[in-house]
Formats: sequence, structure tokens, C-alpha cells
Amino acid sequence: MDTYLTVTSARAVREYAGRPLPADAVQRILEAGRVAGSSRNRQPWRFIVVESPSLRERLAEAVSAPANVRGAALVVVIAMHGKGPTAFDAGRAAQNMMLTAWNDHIGSCPTGLRDRDAVVDLLDLKEDEQPMIALSFGYPARTRDPLRLEAVEWIERADRKPFDEVVERV
Ligand SMILES: Cc1cc2nc3c(=O)[nH]c(=O)nc-3n(C[C@H](O)[C@H](O)[C@H](O)COP(=O)(O)O)c2cc1C
Repeated sequence: MDTYLTVTSARAVREYAGRPLPADAVQRILEAGRVAGSSRNRQPWRFIVVESPSLRERLAEAVSAPANVRGAALVVVIAMHGKGPTAFDAGRAAQNMMLTAWNDHIGSCPTGLRDRDAVVDLLDLKEDEQPMIALSFGYPARTRDPLRLEAVEWIERADRKPFDEVVERV
């Protein structure tokens, strides 16, 4: 898919079809995160794929929207370490993963962590690691074909602030 169409048609997908993701699609999602740029190329992250059903349920109980995690085909927690713009770095890796997924028509949603201490505990994170976000992936329960509209039409339909309110030229 054209990159601009992938970007403009992407939306948060919170309800997933039950079917699993192909292994090569999962690999691409994780590689897309790994290849993301970061401040001083420190790559201050680990991408923790939560496969164990019991850990998945404990994670669901620690996030702000448990259903996002319970229903997903793939759940990745981004854990960051060290100083620097770690939130920005994590966002770049997360967006790489989510756009790569959507390019394969796989939906995703970031889910905030309500109880970070519980996430540190259940994932057995290292002393200097902080869990940043949980990403849920899966084929959308309601199919939405990105190719059905032009990029400009996806933009018109997006729930976003007007261009002139956001973009300023000085
Ligand atoms: C840091 C962050 C945390 C988020 N946390 C949640 C969340 O806890 N639950 C949820 O359903 N969506 C969450 N989202 C997804 C946003 O709600 C979503 O990206 C936004 O509403 C735009 O949705 P749209 O692209 O479908 O219009 C989060 C997004 C970000 C960037």
C-alpha cells in the first residue's frame, strides 16, 4: 500500500476478529519497531510479546482498557530504559509497528497502563526499565478496506482538529 494511504487510513482498532496473525506479519511488525530511529541511536527499548494466557490476563487487569488486550491476536509491551527522550523514542517504535500492521490490514490500538507497578512485576522488568505502553494487534472485527477511499477522503473522515488550527507558518 502507498505509505500516505496507510498513514491517512489508519485508525485505532479495539475489536478484533478471532483469527491469528500470520507469523511473517508478526515478524514484520516487530522488525519495524526494532528498526525505528531513536535519540543518539540508543535503542533504549525492549518489545515484550505477551503470549502466556495468565500473563495476558494479568496485563489486561493492569491497563486502562482490558478488552483491548483480552481480544487481541498479538500484544506487545514497550519497555524503555535510561535517560533521554524515551517517550518520543517509544512513540516512533510504536507507530512503526502499528503502520506496518495496518499495511497488512491488521488493526491496532495503544493502551495506557493504569497500574505500572503491576506491569513491572508481571513482566519481571529490570531495575531501570519502565513499561511505556501496551500495543494490541489483530484483524479488525469489522473489516475496513483502506483501498476503498483516496487518502484525501480518509483525511476528511478523520476526527482531527482542522489543518489551520494545527499548522502554523511563521
Ligand atoms: C499514549 C496513548 C495511549 C492510549 N491509550 C488508549 C487506551 O488506554 N485505550 C484506548 O482504547 N485507546 C487508547 N489510545 C488510542 C487513542 O484513543 C486513539 O489513538 C485516538 O483516539 C485516535 O483514534 P482514531 O485514530 O481511531 O481516530 C491511546 C493512544 C495513545 C497515543
